[in-house]
Amino acid sequence: MREVRLSPAGSYDNAPRAYSHITVRPLASAMGAELVGLDLTALSEAAFAEVQDALWRHKMVYARQQHMDHAAHEAFALRWGPFAPDAYTNGVPGHVNVQPLIKEADARSKGLFGSGWHTDSPFLPEPPGVTILRSVEVPPWGGDTVWANTALAYRMLSPAMQAMLRPLQVRMSAVSNAWTQKQADGKELNFASEAARAAAFEGNAHPLVRTHPMTGELSLYLDEVYAVGIEGMTQTESIPLLDMLSRHITQHHFTARLRWEPGMVTMWDNRAALHLAANDYDGFRREMYRTTMAGERPI
Ligand code: SIN
Repeated sequence: MREVRLSPAGSYDNAPRAYSHITVRPLASAMGAELVGLDLTALSEAAFAEVQDALWRHKMVYARQQHMDHAAHEAFALRWGPFAPDAYTNGVPGHVNVQPLIKEADARSKGLFGSGWHTDSPFLPEPPGVTILRSVEVPPWGGDTVWANTALAYRMLSPAMQAMLRPLQVRMSAVSNAWTQKQADGKELNFASEAARAAAFEGNAHPLVRTHPMTGELSLYLDEVYAVGIEGMTQTESIPLLDMLSRHITQHHFTARLRWEPGMVTMWDNRAALHLAANDYDGFRREMYRTTMAGERPI
């Protein structure tokens, strides 16, 4: 008899904390929260510390009506620490760390950058911690971003499965992403340099269950785009396990979905969330800019 999938229950905790300097409004039961009425370019140290705490708690936070330019984006980003290396682009003119994510209205491809479930650049030895994405132009509908809470997904596994996964190391590489992109539209995936491409294809092995450096929380660290195998296992063994875990993480109970407006800024914690960009707005232009902030070697 095939078991009918039951709704997970019992471990949701996305209630806002009581802060002194910011107001936080949760987006969904699983994760995500709006920072209400804040100017991100003018945060006191105390308010910024609360924004950081809110991000660790809600995994993704966002603010409306920011309308930053590249310089303001960089200045705000640097409050989170140094920039992470980026394998895919050399930034925009004059702002090497501001990565353009632009889809033109006449572009037609099944292979939109970021449209599979992923965590940012996990093939790096020290993958990015926080990503900051801002919107300039968005479609009138569609083009949402969706996130999944990988710490909640870990908590919702059986103790037996948690124990089996905890010692495992997952190999993260850009090789499948590049191959898939080529199949989708015949074009090579863009990399910042040949050296960046080679390093991204080689990738790195990281703990499949990682420990958050600030909170100690455990989360699943794998995705559909970059996880290519489990160290010490055959592909026949590892791929079904990775597929099962990807389906588990990305079930809608663990997600939050944001409809963009121009001038929004989102921040997410790549250590504890996956995300995807919906590729559903052919005929409309979407212009976004991203910075990724240095993380650490996952433990
Ligand atoms: C990304 O994957 O970093 C981009 C997400 C988006 O464009 O919504």
